[in-house]
Amino acid sequence: MFLTFEGMEGCGKSTQCKKLIEHFVRQGHDVLHTLEPGGSRLGKELRRILLDPKNSDLSSTSELFLYLADRAQHVSSVIRPAMEDGRTVICDRFADSTVVYQGYGRGLDPSLLHHLNDVAVQGLWPDMTILLDVEPEIGLRRALTRNMQDNKTATEGRFEAESMAFHTRIREGYLTWAALHRGRFLVVDAGRNPDAVFDSILRGLEEKGLG
Ligand code: TYD
Repeated sequence: MFLTFEGMEGCGKSTQCKKLIEHFVRQGHDVLHTLEPGGSRLGKELRRILLDPKNSDLSSTSELFLYLADRAQHVSSVIRPAMEDGRTVICDRFADSTVVYQGYGRGLDPSLLHHLNDVAVQGLWPDMTILLDVEPEIGLRRALTRNMQDNKTATEGRFEAESMAFHTRIREGYLTWAALHRGRFLVVDAGRNPDAVFDSILRGLEEKGLG
């Protein structure tokens, strides 16, 4: 089984990923927890480049191809081998992040990005994608608090430093994209407490026969 988590900064992906992994491990699954960008050896180098605020002059197109290269390598060297070994793969961000951030966020064409993703994932689409939906104000507040706790500056990371208009486009882009791919997406209201959010995730998995 291949599951992905999506959502804007501060939506609670790390917390919910952790809860879901613990749930599947209790059920006896052999779980691989991975992430994008940065899930492969090459990807770790690409992640450093992509998230370095010094690279804020990257053009939208070169940024796009770095994310796609990260994904292609991640699928072929990490995700597909794990699936072939019968493992359950839980990935923090995947192809939909490209459609939403580079497409709805940066203005590239979402349907073109979908085709490019199709090349990058080589037929390996998630069985289900969990979108943790939260209002931009709440997400950003949580992300900034986390950065302070981690002793980073409030705007560390290229995307946290973007304007509220950008984050609003991200939130709306996710909802639009999820509505276009209802069969694969589970949209969860992530503005609630973590246990309530997790209950909705478990119910959604059961409804799709993946619980
Ligand atoms: P990360 O520090 O992992 O943030 P988060 O905890 O929010 O996942 O940073 C990943 C950033 O990369 C995030 O802001 C979204 C962005 N991103 C894209 O723009 N396109 C992509 O294809 C992916 C995978 C991520």
